[in-house]
Amino acid sequence: MKILTVIGARPQFIKAAALAHEVAITHSLSEVLVHTGQHYDANMSDVFFEELGIPAPAYHLGIGSASHGAQTGEMLGAIEQVIQTEQPDWLLVYGDTNSTLAGALAAAKLHVRVAHVEAGLRSFNKRMPEELNRILTDHVSDALFVPTQTAVDHLGREGIAGPHVHLVGDVMYDVALNMAGRARERSQILQDLNLSEGQYVLSTVHRAENTNEPQRLKAIVEGLQQVAQTLPVVLPLHPRTRRMATEQGLNFGAVQVVPPVGYLDMIRLEQGAALIATDSGGVQKEAYFYRVPCVTLRDETEWTELVAAGWNTLVTPTDANTLAQTIRSRLGQAGQDGQLYGTGDAARKILDILQGGLCR
Ligand code: UD1
Ligand code: UDP
Repeated sequence: MKILTVIGARPQFIKAAALAHEVAITHSLSEVLVHTGQHYDANMSDVFFEELGIPAPAYHLGIGSASHGAQTGEMLGAIEQVIQTEQPDWLLVYGDTNSTLAGALAAAKLHVRVAHVEAGLRSFNKRMPEELNRILTDHVSDALFVPTQTAVDHLGREGIAGPHVHLVGDVMYDVALNMAGRARERSQILQDLNLSEGQYVLSTVHRAENTNEPQRLKAIVEGLQQVAQTLPVVLPLHPRTRRMATEQGLNFGAVQVVPPVGYLDMIRLEQGAALIATDSGGVQKEAYFYRVPCVTLRDETEWTELVAAGWNTLVTPTDANTLAQTIRSRLGQAGQDGQLYGTGDAARKILDILQGGLCR
């Protein structure tokens, strides 16, 4: 069986690592990786292949940054050609980026079966490009691999139910379990940034709804600055956010701004943080994997079970004081224990299901 996997953005490289490792020990399977080039800086792409031992992509489409339509359209045409060359049994995509939608749509139109990993997530905010990407991808998928029961229920309400919907847990948890020890052993990031275990706030910001709204970006930067008056705040900054903050002339003050970091350094920073303040989907979950309280800088989250379990608090980032107060009030506040994202074998389950044919 041949799987053609389309990836292109930072979180997809990390998610792809789980399946790539299982494919490597499954002789009856081959995986052909296609990198769309949506993320291309070395610290947004290459570093993850090196650290996570992901094979080099067989195809690098080199699409790069563009408007949504132009980027997705270019990917669609290029992926179509790869599908025609490779004739895979399955095309597999992760999450909700433009690379996800382009891969799924190209395959569906060529009648190649689509497997969607991290299916069923919903923010119920159609202004988010990710919400459109995930709804459309779910609706053209032949196998839906779902991380939580909540996501299964979302799909059911849209008429997607049956034996092709599989609750398998979260592949990011597989990767976290594999890499957590290595990060503690190998990463020197706490020393390099002069941070003490449990004595700093880690933040990431990249969502369009925050970076493209001047008032929100200003509130986030000023809120983090307020926190940094009493506790170090470290901010590995996504290139989109750096560009927008520079254009707006924002000053990060005492916030320790660093370029995006590799995965081992990132999870070491997460493990050691007193609190994580983020608008990232993946980072919200990783905060929970390492049992660090999280404040999510958004109006809503797809990962509602984290809020219900007391690990995550939402704050609409429109006011710096409220943001800083929310972060301060959540310091040291643990949530309930539990296992919200499966048992760390999601990738194995996905491959077994694809091979077993339990799909539409
Ligand atoms: C994309 C995804 C988002 C995901 C995020 C993960 C879409 C619509 N959005 O958002 O769902 O959470 O990736 O990080 O697919 N840039 C660089 N170097 C790079 C990559 C990007 O400088 O290697 C800059 C460019 O100015 C680019 C901007 O970042 O225009 C945004 O990149 P893009 O991939 O369009 O969106 P992300 O915000 O990264
Ligand atoms: N990440 C990383 N370095 C960074 C920021 C994030 O390795 O500087 C990792 C993070 O640990 C998580 C993933 O990237 O595994 C999340 O990706 P991102 O926040 O870009 O996207 P999202 O999850 O919101 O789609």
